[in-house]
Amino acid sequence: MPKKLAAGNWKMNGLREALAEVKALNDACPTHDCDVLICPPATLMRSMAKVCDDMQIDVGGQDCHENTSGAHTGDISAPMLADTGATYVILGHSERRATYGETDRQIRAKTTAAWNANLTAIVCIGETLEERDAANTLDIVGAQLATSVPDNATAATLVVAYEPVWAIGTGKTPTLSEIEEVHTFIRNRLTDRFGAEGAEMRILYGGSMNPKNAADIAAVPNVDGGLVGGASLKASDFIHIVQALNA
Ligand code: 13P
Repeated sequence: MPKKLAAGNWKMNGLREALAEVKALNDACPTHDCDVLICPPATLMRSMAKVCDDMQIDVGGQDCHENTSGAHTGDISAPMLADTGATYVILGHSERRATYGETDRQIRAKTTAAWNANLTAIVCIGETLEERDAANTLDIVGAQLATSVPDNATAATLVVAYEPVWAIGTGKTPTLSEIEEVHTFIRNRLTDRFGAEGAEMRILYGGSMNPKNAADIAAVPNVDGGLVGGASLKASDFIHIVQALNA
């Protein structure tokens, strides 16, 4: 069984004072069997990495450019993320796909860039409500997975996050059996493509995960953790999700 991962995606939230949340999280749960990751905005990465230096908490980015450097105003490269102390990066989040039109091919290039900088890539996939209603969920997720993930993925370098777009920030979640259906589908695709490595790759669920539903979602077969937005911002909420994944 892959080691579970509790990942917080802070999105565009958090000023310096929010570093206190990471300290509070560590105080409440200094050791844990699952991995714990916070992906703060880029402005906080270096200071958070310093705070987390002697904690069992990893720090990650929320995006990277596919090039290592160059004339790309406002962008951040994978080596720059690694230089702050980050060890992970979220790629292909649906908010970036929707707002910036990121394509599966771009996400694949970014994933390779992340690996070249020794970052573990968390590649996000998931269907919209229209796609689910049209019974296209597995086709969409399968196509995103096939094109966004490069061929040389390993369990150490790739995490897949299944995030139904309609569940993000809405308080709505799929049923447990709907989550199981998609996660099992993703697992089968990963093992078909990557063999034994695919069996060890972590598949996270994301979308309105909270202290109340975390334990039930964590118990679903092939759910190896969570990618948590709103409920990761406050240590008092996120700690319950860490504990659910730690059980
Ligand atoms: P919420 O947990 O706020 O629904 O966000 C999920 C998400 O988008 C994590 O990447």
